[in-house]
Amino acid sequence: MQADVVIIGSGAAGLTAALALAQQLKVLVLAKGTLTGGSTAWAQGGIAAVLGTGDTFEDHIRDTMVAGAGLNHRETVEFVVERAPHAIARLVELGVPFNTEGESLHLTREGGHSHRRIVHVDDATGWAVQQALLTAAQANPNITLLPGRTCIDLITGRHEARYSGSGRVWGVYALDEATGKVEAHTGRATLLATGGAGRVYQFSTAPRGATGDGIAMAWRAGARVANMEMMQFHPTCLYNLEVKNFLITEAVRGEGGRLLNPRTGKRFMADYDAERLELAPRDVVARAIDSEIKRFGLDYVHLDISHMEPDFVRHHFPTIHEKLLGLGIDMTRQPIPVVPAQHYTCGGVVIDLAGRTDLPGLYAAGECTDSGLHGANRLASNSLLECFVFGEAAAADILDRWDAFDEPPPIRAWDESRVTNSDEEVVIKQNWTEIRRFMWNYVGIVRTTRRLERAQHRIKLLFEEVNDYYGHFRVSTDLIELRNLLQSADLIVRSALRRHESRGLHYTLDYPETLPAAVDTVLVP
Ligand code: FAD
Ligand code: SIN
Repeated sequence: MQADVVIIGSGAAGLTAALALAQQLKVLVLAKGTLTGGSTAWAQGGIAAVLGTGDTFEDHIRDTMVAGAGLNHRETVEFVVERAPHAIARLVELGVPFNTEGESLHLTREGGHSHRRIVHVDDATGWAVQQALLTAAQANPNITLLPGRTCIDLITGRHEARYSGSGRVWGVYALDEATGKVEAHTGRATLLATGGAGRVYQFSTAPRGATGDGIAMAWRAGARVANMEMMQFHPTCLYNLEVKNFLITEAVRGEGGRLLNPRTGKRFMADYDAERLELAPRDVVARAIDSEIKRFGLDYVHLDISHMEPDFVRHHFPTIHEKLLGLGIDMTRQPIPVVPAQHYTCGGVVIDLAGRTDLPGLYAAGECTDSGLHGANRLASNSLLECFVFGEAAAADILDRWDAFDEPPPIRAWDESRVTNSDEEVVIKQNWTEIRRFMWNYVGIVRTTRRLERAQHRIKLLFEEVNDYYGHFRVSTDLIELRNLLQSADLIVRSALRRHESRGLHYTLDYPETLPAAVDTVLVP
């Protein structure tokens, strides 16, 4: 299909950009699986914005940079923080039913924030945001939504003889999940909004499709990728043998929840961060829990909010309360067993303030990018905000420069002449599991050079196997994702091996000090 602009991803970043572009252009939005399959729909806590009395942009900027251990780009942080009130106003206009307190929006609190600053819809903000954006997109005649398309690779000069080597991007090859056919979708500009790579880890709060597809596609097409070692682990994912990736929002700690060692009953955060306790930034709390679990040989720690009034707990956390009751835990009376789990990909495709990547015609926004906002650790609830700000910024730049984008040339059809149907799907399953296990064990919360090298060795062997498989068999969503997971794992490990210090989310026993200067890890294809 041909459109003016092709957007890959229907989460907060993709749909924000689509709605802004559709004022003037025809937009095609492609999504793997369903239109609500990304992380956006799962967001709980909310969206950070300076709206409260006594709070200032400078405070939000400082909190973001303290959490990010100084690796953030101040210019980007200012850019995003100053646009937050507008982003919230736009969402209100689209009908997002944020919680209110009198005439104002209710603001909750999360770790690392010096003020109450998080607007939210109970404890299921993401679902409300996703629905509002989708409803507006579905009603817009200039937007075509195509779910069930797994994008494989960007269409670049390399696929078109006349433009060979130009790096110019004109769209994407995508697998139609229903027919098994590969189609070319072209446009004068392309925007990646494909979310993170969380599923590269065995335990992650991210949905099944967070396999780093956009990051891997951009890398293969020749774009730089930065700070991939900065993988965020959320401190409080539910520990349950059946339900593997249910998040317990940071707002539970923001509203008074305490972390307890289940063996001793002691509230332990004072031993790790005496001042900020449970509201220290995520990297600090996740490492504290990890340390407690390892020192005492525990399976989990407890998150306890049962000292608060039951009505208060039920009112603030209706979704979590309901979910836990179904699992036999009444959070108004009992502590919740929790463990850290991978949660957010801070690094990604390098973009500038207009969402431009290194490749002409290719833009990116949201979790698949490194915009400079998060630095070495994302501040809670800054991520949806980044999606809205960069979705709009990319759209504005495309509209501004529209006349400079040429029409796509004729594109070669996908070549299937040398592949056959796969005869051994088990290879894909086995490799998926293997990558996620060794990434968890060797490239997790606490790292060493030796473990990173072990992971690198495994990645090298798996590349041979997966590339061989990819070269011989027809693509399937599982195979495409496996190839991208492996590429993401490779980028994470290579970045981690390059950073000879501990900073923010990257903590290594071999280099425990933080170097005086904060420098991005930038990988060049
Ligand atoms: P996503 O919403 O992840 O969307 C990605 C889109 O890309 C999807 O449509 C997907 O189908 C599509 N896609 C991916 N690969 C392909 C492909 N190969 N082909 C076609 N389509 C593809 N952040 C906050 O700020 N506040 C919160 O309270 C918060 N809570 C969170 C709770 C949970 C459980 C999780 C997992 C994350 C949370 N986050 C939160 C982070 C935040 O939700 C995400 O960073 C954000 O939603 C990412 O939006 P996105 O548009 O970049 O990508
Ligand atoms: C949470 O609700 O704890 C998640 C918030 C975030 O990831 O920003």
